[in-house]
Amino acid sequence: MTDIAILERQILDAVTAAGDEAALDAVRVSALGKKGTVSELLKSLGAMTPDERKANGPAFNSLRDRVVAAVAARKTALEDAALDARLVSEKVDVTLPVRPEPQGSIHPVSQVLEEVIAIFADLGFSVAEGPDVEYDDYNFTRLNIPPDHPARQMHDTFYVAKQADGSRHVLRTHTSPVQVRTMLKQKPPIRIISPGRTYRVDSDATHSPMFHQFEGLVIDEVTHLGHLKWTLEEFCKAFFEVDAVEMRARPSFFPFTEPSVEWDLRCDRSGGQIKFGTGHDWLELAGSGMVNPRVLENCGIDPARYQGYAFGGGIDRLAMLKYGIPDIRSFFESDLRWLRHYGFAALDIPTLDGGLSR
Ligand code: DAH
Repeated sequence: MTDIAILERQILDAVTAAGDEAALDAVRVSALGKKGTVSELLKSLGAMTPDERKANGPAFNSLRDRVVAAVAARKTALEDAALDARLVSEKVDVTLPVRPEPQGSIHPVSQVLEEVIAIFADLGFSVAEGPDVEYDDYNFTRLNIPPDHPARQMHDTFYVAKQADGSRHVLRTHTSPVQVRTMLKQKPPIRIISPGRTYRVDSDATHSPMFHQFEGLVIDEVTHLGHLKWTLEEFCKAFFEVDAVEMRARPSFFPFTEPSVEWDLRCDRSGGQIKFGTGHDWLELAGSGMVNPRVLENCGIDPARYQGYAFGGGIDRLAMLKYGIPDIRSFFESDLRWLRHYGFAALDIPTLDGGLSR
């Protein structure tokens, strides 16, 4: 082998052996850099006679060309390999099943809350929210329950310490103050549902100091009790997942509605399990009524022009009925065995078309 061929073999072997771009660059400099082996060869042409130059020039130049090409090819190969490695390491298989199996479950109260929202959303209601710690004014006064009104005793209120200005806050005793909040900031037409936590000094198998309610409010110029009845009926059919229900109206009293109506739902408790739509039992469903014109006035809405209805019911109670849970206190005991038994699959979201509770 000629010296040139040996040199070429050495350089090309080094190019092939270069494992990364830094190593390849070192090989390039050692061959093609200012003092590189190939550059020195080319420089040596200058000291040769014309004949020697003619004999060696083409060989030296083509050696240089082959080395340049080999370095470039290796560079591309190294870049491709680096990209492939990155793609492999950053790959996400979106078809992989969720692993490990989801551990948590959805609490029945959250489940029913979502179900209630799904049903009313379908009827065109939007969700409104208010704080748990509420102004006494919104919880009572603007709802037509003045300071000395006996209805305040109905509610066994948790009071929060007096504020600097002498006003008092309460843990809201119902979701009705969200009616006030909504009317104060939104002009009719109004159609909202407001689920959330509520508090009263009360505790036994059917009462918990913290519980959940949902509030409904519809205000416009033409809405009447017939609309209210239809809305609650549609809600019951969807919620209890039956084709027909029968509701009974009882006259009642709430300071914030006039007239006030309580609704019962026909059911059958004879078989140990509760069935809706048939039977000879009645189950208390919700309080409701036409919004008292005084409340409209207290919330800046003209009662000569607008009217509407409101309703409120217990979420925990609905959950107990629908899912056969006997004691409300068990909702809040955080007993894992209970949650595993009554909880709902974490990734199942209640929808009307997909099924509320599967
Ligand atoms: N706030 C009432 C309660 O906690 C329930 C209620 C009754 C809400 C009548 C209403 C209504 O909106 O119109 O007992």
